[in-house]
Amino acid sequence: MDQYAIWGGNPLVGEVEIGGAKNTALPILAAALMTDDTVIIDNLPDIRDINVLLDAMKNIGVVVERRGRHQVKINASQIFTTAIEGNGIRKMRASYYFLGALLGKYKSASVGLPGGCEIGTRAIDQHIKGFRALGAKVRLEHGIIITEAIDLTSAHIFLDVVSVGATINLMMAAVLAEGQTVIENVAKEPHVVDVANFLNSMGANIKGAGTDVIRIRGVKSLHGSEYTVIPDQIEAGTFMMAAAITKGDVTVKNIIPKHLECISAKLKEIGCEVQESDDAVRVFCSKCLKGTQVKTMPYPGFPTDMQPQISVTLGLSAGATSIVRESIFENRFRYLEELTKMGAKATIEGNVAILEGVEKYDGASISATDLRAGAALVLAALAAEGFSTVDHIHYIERGYEDFPEKLMSLGGHIRRVTNAEELKKARLKVV
Ligand code: UD1
Repeated sequence: MDQYAIWGGNPLVGEVEIGGAKNTALPILAAALMTDDTVIIDNLPDIRDINVLLDAMKNIGVVVERRGRHQVKINASQIFTTAIEGNGIRKMRASYYFLGALLGKYKSASVGLPGGCEIGTRAIDQHIKGFRALGAKVRLEHGIIITEAIDLTSAHIFLDVVSVGATINLMMAAVLAEGQTVIENVAKEPHVVDVANFLNSMGANIKGAGTDVIRIRGVKSLHGSEYTVIPDQIEAGTFMMAAAITKGDVTVKNIIPKHLECISAKLKEIGCEVQESDDAVRVFCSKCLKGTQVKTMPYPGFPTDMQPQISVTLGLSAGATSIVRESIFENRFRYLEELTKMGAKATIEGNVAILEGVEKYDGASISATDLRAGAALVLAALAAEGFSTVDHIHYIERGYEDFPEKLMSLGGHIRRVTNAEELKKARLKVV
């Protein structure tokens, strides 16, 4: 019965340090398998998805040495299979990064069809199309994607949809392929740039990451590297939204403000103050929130991974109507049913949510429906009047390190409880 028990209603105030980016660290760890040399990765978030990925690496013979909570030393020279197995890893979307990394280095890989949050169809046709263009054969057998090649050769690939996963996977598959590969209509997310930088630090020759076209000149081999993962744009955005929704004053530290511009802009639009410095952003908000329109878009647009957090915030723009259009995933409003239990007024029409802002939310027993929605519901509970419980918190723990502890340090009354006695104490505020 692991849950968060939350007494809401007070503003969150203070400073919070942001960790390394989950969606960057995952492909970087997979890419670390592409050299026989030792690789050291720093600023790794200590979260479930990362630990599951590291376990899957150990299972194929990779030597993984944790050096403190946020650093890992990896040596993949003794890999004995390119088949990634195990229940935990099959539940993760990012398992597909082993395909690009292992295909690129060993010319063969097999991974179970990727899982991940249930937010839509989440096809991988663009990954497969790209692998085939590079000369690999790809087939699906009993839910396992198997890909192999005699040799990978350069290709000119045009992605039909802008996909973070396909862009990174194809970049990894192409770095050791002969000749120059060009990938067009690629994703421009900070994670894409960071993975390209990491691969280049290992000796790859990738140009154009962060633009619409990536050019990769194949090299013979990659060497070891020491690399620090960029800060997590979505964790930072979540805490910025925590300031807005609780009418608090939060300084989010150890971030790259450029990556947060679209979030800062929306917060200003709805009446919050946002002050940026070199590696921090302060968000404070004392006035009534205004309504607005949001449409999720690939970077530099408003991220789909921040859609639930801004929606729960807009639900409190009393008297105003907000329109939130989800254009990346088709099933990303399931949490609104939970939010209505707290008094939100939300209707869904296809991929659009219409939020009629209310004065306040009331505490309720709610369930996280996926990772980001779970975090958003926690924010709603922190803003709500009264006591809430949030269950299915395993989703949240996949992607946020020390989430309750960080919120507590800002004055949030949130406890992780594991049994009825702890829940009772949290309800009575005796802990
Ligand atoms: C990654 C992130 C996820 C984030 C998303 C968009 C990881 C582990 N997950 O997911 O948190 O929400 O980027 O920023 O990094 N698509 C296809 N065919 C493909 C690939 C994608 O049709 O082969 C579609 C998807 O269904 C979706 C859109 O393209 O509609 C974007 O998906 P993509 O950018 O690939 O997201 P993920 O890599 O799954």
